[in-house]
Amino acid sequence: MQLVTTKPGIIVAEQDRELAETSRREIQRRLPDFADCYVELGSGSGMHLIKLAQRYPSALCIGFEIRFKRAFKTGEKAELLGLKNVMIIRTDARQINHLFTAGQVSGFFVNYPDPWDKRRWLKNRLLNPELLQTMRELLRVGGFLRYKTDHQEYFASTCKLLSEEQWRTVKHTTDLLRSPYAENNIPTEFEMLFKSQQKPLCLIETMRT
Ligand SMILES: C[S@@+](CC[C@H](N)C(=O)[O-])C[C@H]1O[C@@H](n2cnc3c(N)ncnc32)[C@H](O)[C@@H]1O
Repeated sequence: MQLVTTKPGIIVAEQDRELAETSRREIQRRLPDFADCYVELGSGSGMHLIKLAQRYPSALCIGFEIRFKRAFKTGEKAELLGLKNVMIIRTDARQINHLFTAGQVSGFFVNYPDPWDKRRWLKNRLLNPELLQTMRELLRVGGFLRYKTDHQEYFASTCKLLSEEQWRTVKHTTDLLRSPYAENNIPTEFEMLFKSQQKPLCLIETMRT
């Protein structure tokens, strides 16, 4: 908790995963000052979240990151750059349904989530039908989910889930860095690593209809 108190206004930490009230209050207090709200689930050390906040100063950019050190690093970067539109919620991203109301989110970003690719671990995947449904409910009409991964099977199964629900695909590639979407792409820490390993990267952007 000591680390948290050094970043008031940037990092909100939940001691109890089930108790999201502090985060909810803080998000709802700040949201009215912004035109948009972008939410990144599993924001890591914040490379993407920080660049997103710089690119869209009128958006409140909220990162959910379960690991304290990574959440703290993100907070440090935001503080150093004097960014006033960044919030880090150090809690389980699956809490989002308690923190936002329907239509409050303009865009969700899920970048290189842990693949949990052993059969018995599949249930741990962040992008499961329940969370996709929650995201859909929280998005405003025309809001989007942008998902990037190096994991071909996770990508294919998520695209299949999205095609079965009420989403409209607006971007799709299995080779992001050689696609037209590379130009405006904001990289992440893990993406830099996968790029150096010359792995093909997948992107889907899908819109709430
Ligand atoms: C593979 S890393 C990718 C980090 C970052 N998005 C990137 O692309 O560099 C996945 C991140 O998601 C975080 N994470 C995993 N499950 C989470 C959850 N349920 N809630 C919040 N963060 C989570 C992990 O701690 C880790 O930082």
